[in-house]
Amino acid sequence: MTKTPVALASAAAMLAAGAAAAQELNLICSADQAICERLVQEFEASHDMNINMVRLSSGEAYAKVRAEARNPQTDVWWGGTGDPHLQAAADDLTAEYRSPMLEELQPWAVTQAETSEYRTVGVYSGALGWGYNTEIFEEKGIEPPRCWEDLLDSSLQGEVQIADPNSSGTAYTTLATLVQLMGEDEAFEYLKKLDANVSQYTKSGSAPVKSAARGETGLGIVFMHDAVAQAEEGFPIEVVAPCEGTGYEIGSMSLIAGAQNPDAAKVFYDWVLGADVQSVMPEAGSYQIPSNANATAPEAAPDLSELKLIDYDFAEFGSSERRSALLSRWDEEVGGVANN
Ligand code: G6P
Repeated sequence: MTKTPVALASAAAMLAAGAAAAQELNLICSADQAICERLVQEFEASHDMNINMVRLSSGEAYAKVRAEARNPQTDVWWGGTGDPHLQAAADDLTAEYRSPMLEELQPWAVTQAETSEYRTVGVYSGALGWGYNTEIFEEKGIEPPRCWEDLLDSSLQGEVQIADPNSSGTAYTTLATLVQLMGEDEAFEYLKKLDANVSQYTKSGSAPVKSAARGETGLGIVFMHDAVAQAEEGFPIEVVAPCEGTGYEIGSMSLIAGAQNPDAAKVFYDWVLGADVQSVMPEAGSYQIPSNANATAPEAAPDLSELKLIDYDFAEFGSSERRSALLSRWDEEVGGVANN
């Protein structure tokens, strides 16, 4: 008799523990699959939560969050280029949150938060460039391109891959970078000429340099850290920072407005901004600059201070009007050509 309340109490405790263990978190991850999986593994090992993760390119992630606005199926969107995160913020698709971790972050990561009225935050950063396969270039006697202009050379016909800016944040960053370097009309003229050398517009941003690493194409226009990742794996990839200057991303993270698991989402958000977690990223082949000022930047990461970076206008190119208009123009003038 006296045992019953104890038994009931422990059954209740077990139920409570069971309920806690069953806590779910729905995550969209827009960086590379390997780092996405590593984050899930690290988080689940230290928290009583299960993460349901889907890897989507930045533009696809934005489209999913937008499509689900009335009934959000996602709690957190981690990684991917900042522009679509800023667009989601401007569209009220993401929730305001001032994490206590903000004070540990690099100024560029905090500026990203301020630009969005705290609806997104910087998680890493990296600059655009390309990687080319040295063996293919030697074999075919192609002069390695050092400048954006060199990519138009006819010796590169069929050798270049870049992603589609509708799905890929990398390719949208390229488009916005060229517009800022050259002016909009000139950038579209450039992209139409480049199209003659492009064999494929991929869905994901890093796919072109993975193809180059495996000898399927000569060169991929990607974030330099994605090219570094292939070189670090031992592939014959040389990394180039374009001579005219280049753009960069502030990889970002956002909480989804009206999410089903807002508390769990904040636990993940604060955790993933921590120095320890960010320092682990290179082990998963991720060579961006981490946003936590106390995190160790990977040795192989391109040093952004040595690059000729443009003053990328994130507020403008992450605005809904500008991003939508540039993507429509790309579809009409470049994508349409490629699909013919
Ligand atoms: C790679 C890079 C990330 C970048 C992401 C964007 O994973 O390592 O730094 O944010 O691409 O992906 P997307 O497929 O949208 O171009």
